[in-house]
Amino acid sequence: MMIQEFKILTVTHKQTNLSAIEDFVLKAADEVALQERLAHLKAQFDLEELFYLPTCNRVMYLFTMSRPLDAHFAGHFFQFVNPALTIDTLERIEDTALLLEGEAAINHLFEVSASIDSMVVGERQILGQLREAYDRCLAWGLTGDNLRLAIQNAVISAKEVYAQTRIGEKPVSIVSLAVQKMMRNNLSREARILLIGAGQTNALVAKFLTKHDFSRITVFNRSLEKAEQLAATLGGRALPLTALAAYREGFDCMIVCTGATEAIITPELYAQLLQGEQDKKLVIDLSIPNNVHRATTAAFPMQYIEIDDLRQLAKENLAFREQEIAKAQKLLAAYIKNFPDALRHRRVELALRAIPEEVRAVKEKAINEVFKKEVAGLDAPTRELLERMMTYMEKKCVGIPMKVAKASMTGAPVKQKQPKQELITA
Ligand SMILES: NC(=O)c1ccc[n+]([C@@H]2O[C@H](COP(=O)([O-])OP(=O)(O)OC[C@H]3O[C@@H](n4cnc5c(N)ncnc54)[C@H](OP(=O)(O)O)[C@@H]3O)[C@@H](O)[C@H]2O)c1
Repeated sequence: MMIQEFKILTVTHKQTNLSAIEDFVLKAADEVALQERLAHLKAQFDLEELFYLPTCNRVMYLFTMSRPLDAHFAGHFFQFVNPALTIDTLERIEDTALLLEGEAAINHLFEVSASIDSMVVGERQILGQLREAYDRCLAWGLTGDNLRLAIQNAVISAKEVYAQTRIGEKPVSIVSLAVQKMMRNNLSREARILLIGAGQTNALVAKFLTKHDFSRITVFNRSLEKAEQLAATLGGRALPLTALAAYREGFDCMIVCTGATEAIITPELYAQLLQGEQDKKLVIDLSIPNNVHRATTAAFPMQYIEIDDLRQLAKENLAFREQEIAKAQKLLAAYIKNFPDALRHRRVELALRAIPEEVRAVKEKAINEVFKKEVAGLDAPTRELLERMMTYMEKKCVGIPMKVAKASMTGAPVKQKQPKQELITA
């Protein structure tokens, strides 16, 4: 197996917009259908091994084959993946897809794993996605020893990047930044929290609230059913959005995030929710456009956290992570350089796998066929000694080829055991 045999066909957020990536994903109704389509793809293009990774910002086909990878092959490949792709797209496939071979393919795989190539640099989620995708392809019999080695090395080098650089350090998601700011306010676990909206964003907020053990949460939502679902995950209470105006229990923190295009929290409503309390409340507004009216933030004492500030912070943190890319690439370079050696090593290991069996067969033949008559004539202790000597020889012989092969790969001389110097007695 030569490194040149590794190939990647991929479409990523860097080449095209996210919605267009969908066109290069292998569509299937369920997992069984997907397994069938992948097996068919592998057979159709005579691929030795195949690994398939679809995520929200890329779709990657990593495979091994001895033929060179060119635009003609890629066009046919993607036509099979999605017969609805236009002839124009297929003829100009290099405008949308990346065609990578050999070291360039391995380099790309390693950079994807270390999340250097991600839309959000430093997001570790990719490692989990890579592992899951690999386990699936392995279980479906699509991958073999060479892709196992490539993915294993990619994961090891990515972990090194996460450990040795600050690439994943500063939060870049709006929700984690909001929670980080919220926690700086030293709210007690008993703080009264109003969660307004029960969509995806607030569901994520709810996970953090559970993690931090907040116990007095009321969820308000336009549809009561969704409020109830979210409240159940929090051990909280659910009310319809219309009940907000009549809510009389006060609050310490309000987290607002809905798709409403008009402000929900007006000064009048806010004054009503305060129930005469004078202290500074914490108000977090994650909606676009803002759901807390400007006049509200101006009229009442509050610590106001809004999405624009968080977005700016996310941008700065992402820029910080991007500065770590060069350091990460330097770390990866060492792994990429060593990968051909790892391949050679594995090839030798596989070739030598048969040796123990062969040596054992020689031993058995010697005892049971070639020297059968002579062995039969031996008394029991001599026969036992002979067998022990043969077993000793067998064990020692098995290790020799591996030792020689390893030395020839590293260029180190094979160590010869020197006979022990006889003690010269006068
Ligand atoms: N997705 C992100 O990455 C992200 C990050 C930060 C902020 N945001 C912003 O957060 C807001 C919600 O996003 P999401 O991802 O949570 O959306 P989502 O999953 O679609 O949920 C929308 C939520 O808003 C409610 N809603 C929609 N229209 C409403 C209206 N006219 N009046 C009252 N409630 C209404 C929905 O109530 P029903 O259950 O009754 O439909 C639901 O609870 C948006 O402004 C979005 O721009 C999104």
